[in-house]
Amino acid sequence: MMDLQNKNILLGVSGGIAAYKSVELLRLLKKAGADVNVIMTDSAQKFVGKTTFEVLSENSVLSDLFLDTQSSVKHIELAAGADAAIIAPATANTIAKFAHGLADDALSTTLLAVTCPVMVCPSMNTDMYQNIRVQRNLDILEKDGWVILDPDSGILACKTVGAGRLPDPWFIFDRVEAMLVKKDLKGKNILVSAGPTVEPLDPVRFISNHSSGKMGYSIARAAERRGGMVTLVSGPVSLDAPVAVECILVHQADIIVKVAAVADYKPMDPKPRKIKKNENDKDLSILMTQNPDILKLLGKKKTKDQFLVGFAAETDDLEKNALLKMEKKNLDMIAANIVGSSDSGFKADTNKVKLFFRDGSSFDIPLMAKDKVADILIDKVIEKMG
Ligand code: PMT
Repeated sequence: MMDLQNKNILLGVSGGIAAYKSVELLRLLKKAGADVNVIMTDSAQKFVGKTTFEVLSENSVLSDLFLDTQSSVKHIELAAGADAAIIAPATANTIAKFAHGLADDALSTTLLAVTCPVMVCPSMNTDMYQNIRVQRNLDILEKDGWVILDPDSGILACKTVGAGRLPDPWFIFDRVEAMLVKKDLKGKNILVSAGPTVEPLDPVRFISNHSSGKMGYSIARAAERRGGMVTLVSGPVSLDAPVAVECILVHQADIIVKVAAVADYKPMDPKPRKIKKNENDKDLSILMTQNPDILKLLGKKKTKDQFLVGFAAETDDLEKNALLKMEKKNLDMIAANIVGSSDSGFKADTNKVKLFFRDGSSFDIPLMAKDKVADILIDKVIEKMG
């Protein structure tokens, strides 16, 4: 989860049944350290009481420009201090007001004064959502630079099935975080590999490794948030796929980050049936054969505009082994990490990485969350790519 400390967020709630989900969204924003000011329309208060938002936000809720505040320009103060505004749920009426610059309540008036990024989360009956007027209004807002979060499809409050459901609070939260990140990878295609490989021995057993995918998924998530078009090639992991990570053709990638723990060897002759225990044989030998080195192949095919990043998982001689791999695989950068300790490498949520570059320089990333390592690694890629 990103640190939203020192961020001022406006949460606009308009009158739909999904207003209850905004309570959870508020909790997620607060948990991430944001200062949240809630603005409610009259109809929103018919669905969820003001008190709930006031208690959880630790701020008074703005709902009436004339009655509620000590300051006569509270809406201007809120708008001026906001780092981001989220309207969830956004009804057809509220969207129409935004699109046409109306200012007849606390929410529409405040939103007319904001200069920060705004995310609108439409939520309504499918026919209303698909209505040409609503779509036209959403188009206007999008063209003005506001982010429109498409609603989910599913069973709606009116018992119909279709598009119009407010997405889950964690998803909205994820997209708010993404909205606040600088887009320094815009226009770049990025390929990330993550997780373990699995090589079968027989129909029951396999040879694999301890990679959880956490490091690679963190890099894919960070790259997507920074505006990149990310393809994630993943081995079997128990992680949720990062949001909005798309598939593109591998050869088109501008940046390739190979975090996957790929088997160097696989069983030469995987058996079609389960290998039975033989009481007379105390030992079992498995003949292994080398797998193709994907990174090395990519290094050979690398174009002059591509930036190729490998990882080196080592138990000893970190620097020597990493530099050798960078050379052999024709990499622009290698991220070396020690595996075998509980707070870095495999499975851990944290990692300690040393980056080595083609120009002979290096950079130490001390022990920190893999999400943070991912961002620093991307900073360095961008810096080196110029
Ligand atoms: O997934 P986590 O639990 O978060 O753990 C993260 C990690 C420890 C797996 C990760 O940080 C890491 O070090 N990944 C690389 C693991 C690895 O296979 O390292 P290696 O030194 O064996 O391989 C060097 C590079 O060549 C790697 O980029 C690897 O993807 C690539 N390779 C290796 C063999 C092969 N046949 N083809 C390859 O492309």
